[in-house]
Amino acid sequence: MKATRNDVIKILLVEDNPGDARLFREFLKDAGSSNIDLTHTDYLEDALKLTDKDDYDLILLDLSLPDANGLETVNKTHEHVPDLPIVVLTGLNNEEIAVKAVQAGAQDYLVKGQVDSHLLIRAIRYAIERKRTELDHKDALTKASESERLSTIGTLAAGIAHELNQPLQTFKFSISNLRQMQNNNSLTAETLLEKLEKMDQLTNYMSSIITNLLGYVKADEIFDRCSLSDILNTVMSMIGKQLSKQGIEVELDIPADFAIYCNRSSIAQVVMNLFINARDAYLEKEQEPEAETERKIFVYTSTNDDAHCIYVKDWAGGIPTEIRNRVFDPFISTKSAVKGTGMGLHVVKQIMVRHDGNVSFTVEDEVGTIFELMFPKYPSKMSNMEKLVVG
Ligand SMILES: Nc1ncnc2c1ncn2[C@@H]1O[C@H](COP(=O)(O)OP(=O)(O)OP(=O)(O)O)[C@@H](O)[C@H]1O
Ligand SMILES: [Mg+2]
Repeated sequence: MKATRNDVIKILLVEDNPGDARLFREFLKDAGSSNIDLTHTDYLEDALKLTDKDDYDLILLDLSLPDANGLETVNKTHEHVPDLPIVVLTGLNNEEIAVKAVQAGAQDYLVKGQVDSHLLIRAIRYAIERKRTELDHKDALTKASESERLSTIGTLAAGIAHELNQPLQTFKFSISNLRQMQNNNSLTAETLLEKLEKMDQLTNYMSSIITNLLGYVKADEIFDRCSLSDILNTVMSMIGKQLSKQGIEVELDIPADFAIYCNRSSIAQVVMNLFINARDAYLEKEQEPEAETERKIFVYTSTNDDAHCIYVKDWAGGIPTEIRNRVFDPFISTKSAVKGTGMGLHVVKQIMVRHDGNVSFTVEDEVGTIFELMFPKYPSKMSNMEKLVVG
């Protein structure tokens, strides 16, 4: 649609019946609109070529032309010039198709034999106005989805920062450990190899996080049957030492054959987030004078007809009341900016949703928190063959 210049309305009339064409020309003249510039053609093909060369404000389109008929006429025009307002011209008894034409993108229709110059001018002005509103609306929607996309990118960036920060901290911890041992001459070849192995594992873990975060967008994670013990071993190999140094014991009560259908590193990420949150809560609580000394994270499971559940329980005082109904939202944190971004539980929730599962918690006031991770036995990503094996 062109920008109106000098208030001249440029109209393209596509009408193969010379009598009808003459009539429309006269109506426009009668309306006293010297500011209407009319171009007439008999064929749709010619009309579309004209729209390539010149900007029109509106097209008056007969529905039965030598080279196009019925709705096809509207569809072709709308496809070729989607921003151009269309007013369809139709014969008597053909109103049904005219209504369909409006549904297909035309702004209005006029029934030949029932038109006068006043009606024609009104239809033209309304159609132009209606199209303009529609385009403004479309523009607003595009802008809205752009800003939505930007905010998703922001959330994603924070997610990446959060997820990489933890393993990086562990990596740094290993380096400072090595340096310390080297300074006291206590570094043996065996320890060095052990530390290097761990750093290698961490690097793999970080690269799998990046793959997963890309999966956050592309959703192409690989799902497999994984033993919970294996997942917990992965987590403990990364933060077990840190936890025990901070006096936190991890106790497990899980059946040896407990397995879930999941993306392995994503679930390791989930468990790691829950463990670190419990640890932080214990460290926070430590600052209170009457703090208890025992610090434990207890992992246990349950299975029913539909789901496998994993529980992570702590006695670190419980999630603060004021954030309980928002903890899964992004950026909700009671920690200082360096210690927490408030993305941990949000990412946990995203991952569980991708597993068709759920995460929830119960708090015993002043005592602690139990997180429940629920995995359906037959998630949608599981193939029928695998369902048979599990069943
Ligand atoms: N086990 C827990 N015990 C007590 N409070 C908790 C526990 N887990 C989470 N919280 C509370 O919920 C908040 C949000 O947790 P979340 O993991 O989303 O973010 P964070 O730990 O603050 O930061 P991040 O995980 O991004 O480093 C925490 O700041 C903390 O106040
Ligand atoms: Mg956290």
